[in-house]
Amino acid sequence: MRKVLVLNGPNLNLLGTREPELYGRETLDQIGASLTDEARALGLEVDFRQSNSEATLVDWIQQARTGHGGIILNAGAYTHTSIAILDALRAFGRPIIEVHLSNVYRREDFRHHSYVSLAATGVIAGLGAQGYSLALKAMATLIDRT
Ligand code: DQA
Repeated sequence: MRKVLVLNGPNLNLLGTREPELYGRETLDQIGASLTDEARALGLEVDFRQSNSEATLVDWIQQARTGHGGIILNAGAYTHTSIAILDALRAFGRPIIEVHLSNVYRREDFRHHSYVSLAATGVIAGLGAQGYSLALKAMATLIDRT
């Protein structure tokens, strides 16, 4: 399965205008478009989505069990709170890469704990939008290995 689900959680729809000094000036649509191009070169297909709703994210992760070879996830603030997302990820059983635009370890203490990390194959944080590209390259290798 060479289709990769790239999931974005709450407030990431505001990228470009939301705290640009932390999250950069690229919009989520721009990140999605670049990733779709890069995926082609890697022989992958990207399914790029965003929701502010925890329930929707859980539903999408569950659905990915039947059609996606891997998940790249920036769960936004749910990273630090959501056991429901962790449980859904644990049921996925294929590679998962956690991405954060900002370096969460340089920020408030409450951002230092990630439930997503408990299920993630790897984590990329602090490299801005580039983190998604790096995650996609790593995902190509992980999918090739499985
Ligand atoms: C974030 C970091 C989270 O702590 C925050 O709640 C976000 C964005 C990041 O990409 O740096 O919404 O996931």
